[in-house]
Amino acid sequence: MSSSSRPIILTGDRTTGPLHIGHYVGSLRSRIELQHTHQQYVLLADAQALTDNAHDVDKVRSNVIEVALDYLAVGIDPELSAICVQSALPALAELSMLYLNFVSVARLERNPTIKEEISARGFGRDIPAGFLCYPAAQAADITAFKATVVPVGEDQIPMIEQTNELVRRLNRQIGHRLLPEATALISPVGRLPGVDGKAKMSKSQGTAILLSSTDQEIETAVQRIYTDPNHLRVSDPGRVDGNVVFTYLDAFDTDKEEVENLKDHYARGGLGDSFLKRRLSELLKATIGPIRERRALLSRDPDTIMDIIRHGTKLAREITERTKVEIMTGLGLFRL
Ligand code: TRP
Repeated sequence: MSSSSRPIILTGDRTTGPLHIGHYVGSLRSRIELQHTHQQYVLLADAQALTDNAHDVDKVRSNVIEVALDYLAVGIDPELSAICVQSALPALAELSMLYLNFVSVARLERNPTIKEEISARGFGRDIPAGFLCYPAAQAADITAFKATVVPVGEDQIPMIEQTNELVRRLNRQIGHRLLPEATALISPVGRLPGVDGKAKMSKSQGTAILLSSTDQEIETAVQRIYTDPNHLRVSDPGRVDGNVVFTYLDAFDTDKEEVENLKDHYARGGLGDSFLKRRLSELLKATIGPIRERRALLSRDPDTIMDIIRHGTKLAREITERTKVEIMTGLGLFRL
């Protein structure tokens, strides 16, 4: 298949911190596969990161390189995937502004992900306007690339739904199907909880295992993993459900049969946490070790990283500018 006839993927990450093993099992692994069959654009979403990090621009900027390093270290191949910087793609900002005229504040507030964040973070009416509007900005990202496949986590499904609403609305006004609808590709592995068993891995709370973690850091984090608080003696029967060691083993251990045996044994009693943690620790070290080494090697050559990002951004600029002109012309806006 020639690269130009391949279906287009847009995917990306907010540049708020280096990536962790949750990103690895949730999205990076599938991107490494998909880049062989799709035209893949990977967005370093610094502009979207600003929507709730305007007070910390340094963090957002410096993590553009950190996340790019993570991408390259895990095997996203710049020959196959374009790695691009969101804030360096003006068409995305222009389309975002345009799309805001095609969506109501009420609809943005009804977006389940936005709604949940507003209440979880206690934003109320003080929510940054950019944050409230990010579903429209993400629709701009997706449509500017004419992406039909968007690999994301469950929490991002409402963004794809809202994108497709906008696509239908714009196509109706344009008079033909200029923009394709997008399909969310949900990873078979759900979001990994933090080592403490809470919903999210957090670097600042030390509950994430990073792709750049050292062996020592991996071991320390694994020691902290939440298991079954009532499993006091090895001989006690243990709970498998909600036990983070098993959640991680399910995500990383390729010997599924052995994991099932371990679960049965643990539930019956007679299997200690330390045995499981040792197995997991070895597995994580074997997975992360080569990634960390490649990352360290790459980070010694910042010029090459910059060249890769510049090249990917240039390709992305061409396609997003083209789509922007098509949309503006299609809608009948004044053109000079
Ligand atoms: N919102 C996504 C996240 O938080 C990041 C993102 C920005 C994205 N633009 C995108 C993902 C476009 C897919 C497509 O993870």
